[in-house]
Amino acid sequence: MEKHAKTYVYGSLLLIVILVGLLFYGYNNLTKLKDAYTARGTELEATKETLSTEKERASNLEAIIEIIKQEFALSEENGSELLGLLKAEKERNQEFEDQITGISGTVGLLDKLSKTDPQLLQKYSKIYFLNENYMPGVVLEIPKEFRRDGNTSLFIHEKVAPFLTDLLKRADRDGISLLVASAYRSFDEQGSLKNGYSVQYGTGANSFSADQGYSEHQLGTTIDFTTTEINGTLYDFETTKAYAWLLKNAYRYGFALSYPKDNTYYVFEPWHWRFVGTDLARDLNRDNKYFYDLSQREIDAYLISLFD
Ligand code: DAL
Ligand code: ZN
Repeated sequence: MEKHAKTYVYGSLLLIVILVGLLFYGYNNLTKLKDAYTARGTELEATKETLSTEKERASNLEAIIEIIKQEFALSEENGSELLGLLKAEKERNQEFEDQITGISGTVGLLDKLSKTDPQLLQKYSKIYFLNENYMPGVVLEIPKEFRRDGNTSLFIHEKVAPFLTDLLKRADRDGISLLVASAYRSFDEQGSLKNGYSVQYGTGANSFSADQGYSEHQLGTTIDFTTTEINGTLYDFETTKAYAWLLKNAYRYGFALSYPKDNTYYVFEPWHWRFVGTDLARDLNRDNKYFYDLSQREIDAYLISLFD
């Protein structure tokens, strides 16, 4: 009995110790839980506060956006008005610019025309008289290799020179011998030449030689060609390959035959070619016509593009 009592007392004490331990453990956990809960509560409060601040900012932003929207709508209205004005202004500027371009184009053409010697496209063969003082502005010496007689200087209008050089070089590349027998002749030179022919042939000279003041050679734009095929003479030029080449190609370089067969001015002169510009030469070639077939008015329309 005594032994049983002791066991009971010890057992009870142990149970009490266990219960106290459990209670302590539970309380301890409860406190921790409470602390955690309190901490969460504080956090929640902070989040709430942040949320309300954010909300406030959002509503502020909305208000700002609304204001911007209104202003934008306004400026869109103003903008389209401004754009309209800008467009009208641009159009006026463009119109003005077009006018200026038009005017300067016309001024440019007039300037070009005023600098192009109208004599260069005049009909001189027995029709107009070239003043004895008339001289082409500037003449250049034709290179020796292109001259019939290398020792005699020959001159050509400076603006015709590049066309003549191209023509002679092309003929050479095509295997054609082409040389210059005569080019620019002054009023006095033409006079001496004609006098000499007149002494020799009398009035017959009028059929192949112009009086002074009436020769296209005084313009500085006219060439008498020859070739080694006929030893540099003129009279059989019609039969040469050089002449056939000129008939086919000279217009590309602005040269036209002045005195074809059966012309009313002089005998047929297959060697005598006058520079009339590539536009006129091309049209004459296309229409199978000659310079003197056209009226002076028709010819004058080509003056503007004479050296183009
Ligand atoms: N042989 C031409 C016609 C002249 O003398 O100009
Ligand atoms: Zn000639």
